[in-house]
Amino acid sequence: MKIRAFVQGEDEAIWLRMRNESFTEYDDFRPGTMEDIEIWEKSPEFDPVGMYIAEVEGQPVGRVQAHVDRERKEKKGFVQGLCVIPVYRRRGIARALLETALSSLRERGMETAQAWSRDDKPVAKHLLESAGFQVVRVFSTMRRDLSPVVDVEMNREVTFRSMNDSSEDLQLMRELNNEAFKEHFNFRPSTLQEWLHWSQHPDFDREGWFFTFIDAKPVGFVGTWIDRKYVAYREEKLGWIDSIGVLKPYRNKDIGTSLMLRGMEHLRKRGMTEVALGVDDSNPTLAINLYEKVGFKITRKELTYSMVLTG
Ligand SMILES: CC(C)(COP(=O)(O)OP(=O)(O)OC[C@H]1O[C@@H](n2cnc3c(N)ncnc32)[C@H](O)[C@@H]1OP(=O)(O)O)[C@@H](O)C(=O)NCCC(=O)NCCS
Repeated sequence: MKIRAFVQGEDEAIWLRMRNESFTEYDDFRPGTMEDIEIWEKSPEFDPVGMYIAEVEGQPVGRVQAHVDRERKEKKGFVQGLCVIPVYRRRGIARALLETALSSLRERGMETAQAWSRDDKPVAKHLLESAGFQVVRVFSTMRRDLSPVVDVEMNREVTFRSMNDSSEDLQLMRELNNEAFKEHFNFRPSTLQEWLHWSQHPDFDREGWFFTFIDAKPVGFVGTWIDRKYVAYREEKLGWIDSIGVLKPYRNKDIGTSLMLRGMEHLRKRGMTEVALGVDDSNPTLAINLYEKVGFKITRKELTYSMVLTG
């Protein structure tokens, strides 16, 4: 077995195939496409340094990405997309890929590494925990059908409008997001370049991103997302509340509830029958309570792991 660096411009199809052959056991799997890879390679955060492919007798069998976020001040690196295709499992290949990823992060001066596993994946959890990772945060995926929400208090003072295609609106969305999330776990301010890239994604739907105002002052936002390839592949009309935020002085006034209903109404208008979202269980603003109030139930847990690389 050999582990080698990913070569941009040559290894994209292998990278994709490793993922598509390895993650089929996930209950929300949809095959990645070359279009997904092309979009990712154009994103400001893309960095081929730290991407590795494992080979046995010259054949690719697995891969991993050790990612350094250039925009982040703290020396925290990320281990992502670790997988081994089924016939080559239980031979120590994932462990070797993980060690390569951790060495790569160390060499680039990272002091901690972060990785993820679903709570219902014992092998992935064992792999991370036996390498020295510990759970630092638990995230929930929540879901509900898109039948109307009844009996909840809404804020009647606020007004809404969708994003238009001006750069001012993109900038405003970025500022509101950065302000609302600044006390959040793993937060770092998003850049305008990232928002520009995001807004050019074929699934980005400006009409599904709303600002909310009190008088003329923007005080919050909600953004929806529909992965059209997922909907087509799984024949599941599932949309997402991608992001929601209310500025601190305006919290606890039912504005979040009004935003959630607005986002769900938009997804219904787009023909979706179900909605999901991801939430940090220890979100300091207790966002999970809001989602439960509007009928969301937890369907899955995802664990965020961390380990110290120095010392
Ligand atoms: C998780 C995954 C990467 C493991 O790949 P692998 O090459 O089989 O893993 P390794 O052979 O290096 O084994 C790592 C450890 O898990 C154990 N393990 C592997 N498969 C196992 C199984 N089916 N049952 C029990 N233990 C298992 C091994 O014994 C080893 O532990 P040990 O060193 O303490 O004995 C692979 O199953 C996979 O690609 N899954 C789908 C994608 C995924 O979930 N990625 C993880 C994201 S964090």
